Amino acid sequence: MSAPWTLHNGDAMGWLATLETDSAAAVITDPPYSSGGMLRSDRTGDTRAKYSGLKNRHHISNFSGDNRDGRSWGYWMALWLGEAARVVRPGGVLAMCTDWRQLPAATDALQAGGWVWRGIVPWIKPDARPQRGRFTQNAEFLVWGTNGPRPFGGECLPGYYLARAPRNNDRGAHQRRHLTQKPLDVMRSLVQIVEPGELILDPFAGAGTTLLAAALEGRRAAGCELHPAHAASARARLDEALQT
Ligand SMILES: C[S@@+](CC[C@H](N)C(=O)[O-])C[C@H]1O[C@@H](n2cnc3c(N)ncnc32)[C@H](O)[C@@H]1O
Repeated sequence: MSAPWTLHNGDAMGWLATLETDSAAAVITDPPYSSGGMLRSDRTGDTRAKYSGLKNRHHISNFSGDNRDGRSWGYWMALWLGEAARVVRPGGVLAMCTDWRQLPAATDALQAGGWVWRGIVPWIKPDARPQRGRFTQNAEFLVWGTNGPRPFGGECLPGYYLARAPRNNDRGAHQRRHLTQKPLDVMRSLVQIVEPGELILDPFAGAGTTLLAAALEGRRAAGCELHPAHAASARARLDEALQT
């Protein structure tokens, strides 16, 4: 039997363009946020400095596509979201991660790409660092929409998630291989938005968390990752976890 997942190493737009119209049930993904920092120099810097404070010294590789300014990011997002809407069948789902800074632009881009915006699902991180005189920034967000009308049916899913981000000392399938890796358990819940056996796409696969979650939950998955080191790392993780 062939593996329930595939991973392409290349650019998401080019990859989506090769996929058949109406061929997938959902896109569940985590695009580069192009967020963070107070200054443009923060945004254009090394992602290891931005996400870990350990430029050049973090054991995990840098990644690309995270340095567009606000307008360019929104424009680029709308481009790939439009192509994703072609590939996902009518009534299918788009769900993507974002942070508080990019939330307004993300919901605009989703709609510019042709999707019906359906809501926001907070991912709350209980271990975020509090700051004096400030509200704790301990949430990221899942923005979701559908490709036109979606009939009711299938699983009832939560309206929020409470989970800590992967840590450097996590092991096995939960091992931290990517700076912005999402919790496997959250992704295992998200993929249940489609029926078992259906196809989920992740154009920005990183360490392959969506693909692994999909496979573990009996869904099929196809992903794309631009950075060769992350693509190789994701393949190794999937092979190891699924013995494929
Ligand atoms: C936020 S990370 C995804 C992390 C992933 N959710 C995980 O749990 O490991 C976004 C990924 O998109 C990749 N990327 C950036 N631009 C891309 C592009 N144009 N096409 C495909 N992948 C891209 C980056 O290299 C990065 O690994």
